[in-house]
Amino acid sequence: MSLNRFLILLLTVVALAGCQAVTTSSADVAPSASAPSTIVHDPELIERGAKVFKYRCAACHSLDTSKSQFFGPHLANLIDRPLGQVEGYQFPEYLNDYTHIVWDEATLAQWIETPQQMIPDMCMPYMGLPNPADREALLTYLKYGQQLRNSP
Ligand code: HEC
Repeated sequence: MSLNRFLILLLTVVALAGCQAVTTSSADVAPSASAPSTIVHDPELIERGAKVFKYRCAACHSLDTSKSQFFGPHLANLIDRPLGQVEGYQFPEYLNDYTHIVWDEATLAQWIETPQQMIPDMCMPYMGLPNPADREALLTYLKYGQQLRNSP
């Protein structure tokens, strides 16, 4: 484990110590109807987004549905998923105040930019990506990266 990765994990443990896990119902919720997609399937962007994800998110998240056990819930099928609805992952109780949030493209784009303003208590040591190109790439990867993984 590299020092960087270790530090991120350490930070998380400290951050998570303040979070109280509760059992929430994790029944599958039908995705809500949403606006037409504005995220273009651009292989170069997806590739760039994969790197952003690797350095900024992958320490705690995976796009693999069987991997919610890292530190955070898996982010597979994230687009149009309501907040806090991952089977097998115990979300902290304070998130019950935010269950109206659905991770549609616009919401996710906003959150990637200013996470603390949207969900101030989030037990996630992530302060937002300042570079618009990185944000666009990350969004594209979050939307299409899973297909990429599943393709031969
Ligand atoms: C150090 C660990 C860590 C890192 C790094 C991290 N997250 Fe998280 N993330 C979490 C945890 C833990 C949660 C669960 C919510 C909570 O405990 O507050 C979470 C929740 C989320 C959620 C809500 C999921 C849902 O089902 O509602 C999204 C979306 C998310 N993270 C995206 C990202 C993205 C995108 C990145 C990279 C830019 C990232 N996270 C980086 C730990 C992390």
